Amino acid sequence: MPAFNEQLAQQIDTYIESVFVPADPVLAANIENADAAGLPHINITPNQGKFLYLLARISGARRVLEIGTLGGYSTTWLGRALPASGRLITLEYSPVHADTARKNLAAAGLDQIVEVRVGDAAASLTAMIDGGEPPFDLIFIDADKVGYPKYLDLALQLSRPGTVILADNIIRNGAVMQEDPEHPDDRGARAYNTAVAAHPRLESIALPMFKDKIDGIAISRVK
Ligand code: SAH
Ligand code: DHB
Ligand code: MG
Repeated sequence: MPAFNEQLAQQIDTYIESVFVPADPVLAANIENADAAGLPHINITPNQGKFLYLLARISGARRVLEIGTLGGYSTTWLGRALPASGRLITLEYSPVHADTARKNLAAAGLDQIVEVRVGDAAASLTAMIDGGEPPFDLIFIDADKVGYPKYLDLALQLSRPGTVILADNIIRNGAVMQEDPEHPDDRGARAYNTAVAAHPRLESIALPMFKDKIDGIAISRVK
């Protein structure tokens, strides 16, 4: 089997970005501010951001839930897909990440639409379910990978037929193909794929995408 041509994949990703994703000062500032605040460089890529934005637009999403905010890069893409009356709740464990995200989202003009909630995502989701939170149109899972199966269960309780559930980092350069992955993150991502593929309430696919290595996003629709 020929080796995967990483350089070519990178060039293609850069080409797609140059054609389809115009440079954007607000998004550039988001990354700069996250960097200055010492946040890790684990946001989605510009091409993945455009992809999430389009899925939100195509599905006509008005209410979006994000699990894992970081500096609000993916949040900005999703928030921009919503009408002025839309709502986006994003869950983040780290107060420093949440604070950085709030500043970035205000600079993006999205502070009327987006709310950053600090705390463990599972606890926040449980509180939302217990509080009778109405269902979301689109849910993006991107926090700790070990928690993915649990986040799926909770996300389903905040869904209605037609809700789109997305999850980042579910290929992990192919590590998820191991039957019994050693790394807990790989185990979590693999368990997520197995769960969404077999779930009676979901129709799903995994889409490989290039991000330094090959990673990908899972796409599910609630029946
Ligand atoms: N969606 C972001 C990247 C998120 S990185 C983007 O693409 O721009 C993952 C984030 O999840 C980190 O900020 C991390 O602090 C947060 N996180 C990790 N474990 C968490 C938990 N248990 N609850 C909530 N957030 C968590
Ligand atoms: C990493 C990448 C991500 O997209 C993420 O959400 C979490 C961690 C990583 O490369 O470690
Ligand atoms: Mg991610």
